[in-house]
Amino acid sequence: MTDIQNLKREAAAEALKFVEPGMVLGLGTGSTASAFIELLAERLKTEDLDLTCVATSEQTKRFAEERGIKIADFNTIADVDLTIDGADEIDPQLNLLKGGGGALLREKIVAFASDRVIIIADASKYVEQLGEFPLPVEIVDFGVAATLAMIEAAAEDAGCQGSIALRRTASGDTFRTDGGHLIADCAFGSIPDPETLADLLDIVPGVVEHGLFIGIADDVFLAAPDGVRHYS
Ligand code: 5RP
Repeated sequence: MTDIQNLKREAAAEALKFVEPGMVLGLGTGSTASAFIELLAERLKTEDLDLTCVATSEQTKRFAEERGIKIADFNTIADVDLTIDGADEIDPQLNLLKGGGGALLREKIVAFASDRVIIIADASKYVEQLGEFPLPVEIVDFGVAATLAMIEAAAEDAGCQGSIALRRTASGDTFRTDGGHLIADCAFGSIPDPETLADLLDIVPGVVEHGLFIGIADDVFLAAPDGVRHYS
């Protein structure tokens, strides 16, 4: 296991301590969330926690089920006790930039339905200002050129500039989210006012959702070589 994988596992181990019997548990998407799912699966071999787990992506559903964790139908569940997820960037106010894996819509729905959201990451994800990682914005196909222009205008109004590109898969195909939508990756370099940008993107009609998670994280566990830091 690489150093970075070890750090992800250490952050995941801290989050696992918050899982209690009978919980409805949201499972995030990405490599750090997967580290958590692996630890959870190990724990479930020796403890019957009677959990109801929901997944934030088809990828997470498969990953969890392959490890013996049953995934419930989220269409029948209104409240989640706790969600554990990763992030691409975390700022000092615990605002997040997410969606590197393209799962931001389901991640945000599950997070909003959760009483508590714990974010786990290695310390490289902690930044003074969000935006070095390109901001993913999930959009519909119809009127894509107009939507991209509106995103650009919204970004300018929020003090951001940079190139916006539709995401492609490694083989060059158009990337599709679990909801069948497109992702526009917005390489702004920095986002000086994430709240304003989030508000402006929220009102662009063709935008389904964006990767700014403002005021959603309750706790963040960041694993560094000298230990795991806790922010809340
Ligand atoms: C997926 C996400 C992930 O949480 C984010 O990309 C972090 O992934 P990783 O833990 O692999 O770095 O938002 O949409």
